[in-house]
Amino acid sequence: MLASEVFERKFTINSSGHLEIGGCDVVELAQDFGTPLYVLDEAKVRANCRTYREALKGVYPNYEVVYAGKAFLTQAMCGLVYQEGLGLDVVSGGELYTALQAGFPAERINFHGNNKSRAELLMALKNGVGRIMVDGLMELETLIQLARETKTQPQVVLRLKPGIVVHTHSYTQTGQEDSKFGLGIKDGVAMKAVKIALASPQIKLLGFHAHIGSQILDVAPFMAAVDVLTAFMAEVRTQTGFVAQKLALGGGFGIAHNKREKPLALWETVAQIGRYARERLTALHYPLPRLVLEPGRSIVGPAGTTLYTVGNIKRIPGVRTYLAVDGGMTDNPRVALYQAVYEGVLANKMNEPLTEVVTVTGKCCESGDTLIWDLPLAAPEPGDLLAVFDTGAYNYSMASNYNRLPRPAVVLVADGEAELIVRRETYEQLIQNDLMPERLKVKPETEPIAK
Ligand code: LLP
Repeated sequence: MLASEVFERKFTINSSGHLEIGGCDVVELAQDFGTPLYVLDEAKVRANCRTYREALKGVYPNYEVVYAGKAFLTQAMCGLVYQEGLGLDVVSGGELYTALQAGFPAERINFHGNNKSRAELLMALKNGVGRIMVDGLMELETLIQLARETKTQPQVVLRLKPGIVVHTHSYTQTGQEDSKFGLGIKDGVAMKAVKIALASPQIKLLGFHAHIGSQILDVAPFMAAVDVLTAFMAEVRTQTGFVAQKLALGGGFGIAHNKREKPLALWETVAQIGRYARERLTALHYPLPRLVLEPGRSIVGPAGTTLYTVGNIKRIPGVRTYLAVDGGMTDNPRVALYQAVYEGVLANKMNEPLTEVVTVTGKCCESGDTLIWDLPLAAPEPGDLLAVFDTGAYNYSMASNYNRLPRPAVVLVADGEAELIVRRETYEQLIQNDLMPERLKVKPETEPIAK
């Protein structure tokens, strides 16, 4: 069996039997840029952006697609999504800074987060960020006060908690009652927030938002969110006369990291949600607000591949074979955190039969540092190149320096050209924030205090 027969994905294999991404031989990428290396396929990112926009085009008159930067945010990524006509969702001063440094127009940025600091809110106000997505009553009060102090009038969208439980990993459920995110509808907190916002000339209420979770592989919860939000909007109109200009339904559209996960058919799902939102609003005789979707993973996840060099292989007879690579939970913490299941191949042996089942581990000092369990590979040897797929989202953005491993580089590939968009971290950078008090300086001539 070949990898192309085992995995349900399309591979481009060149005449050397090497995997190609974006027209680039990945073995050459590894030689040129080193490993571990994140490879981002520009055409795929662009195509995913367009799918959202075009799927909504036919079904909803007034819409906006906002890329959730937490999935993967660098300045180059900001440039890419800008070119594709998307807005940007940021959740911290750091993400906002990245976007502003990239020249991303502040007006097209939405600022999310359940605990934005005063400094972060001030940064947003000072830079004219388009919309503050308010997550709680305390934040609303703080924002009103800061707007008064700075003589600004921020546009506000209230994040609601629709009380919907989605079937995804519990760490990525966000719409249920027992969640740290959003203003509860059932407990009346959301309505209270609406009334406070409407009574405050310092802010301008635009509408409502919900994000029910991530890696959702079923369309029904999105429909349920439309039901809850539109019903709430109608109730607000009855009680206050306020008519929303924005209805934001969050992100969360799942992708397939392996052949057991059945991905949402993106185009159809997006169109279905747009159509349903329009129907519900029309049934309520509600003027159509601007519909906002906020995808992260589905834009960038399938566009990313991580390349690793195979190192030591440990064959434990009757137990299993551990194949270690030069990265691990530091560049992909999703396996340890969410038990995510990835697929990979030996990119330098694409035409060779799969002969051995191995467990791919990283190089961290943790038994939980496993990347893939029971992966069939083509006669693996040290020095081979392992490509792990669908690592574009929540990998680089969640990477750490555990064990003082430098974060990998990111290379953007398109039409046979490769361009570095994030440099590999250096050892110097690993210690650049360390401070060495004089009294702790290691002087070879002085003896240790304790022997
Ligand atoms: N909008 C809001 C308000 C969000 O909180 C998120 C993700 C998104 C949009 C984008 O969701 P996406 O389309 O990417 O599913 N680290 C986890 C995922 C956490 C998602 C957090 N919020 C993981 O690696 O699975």
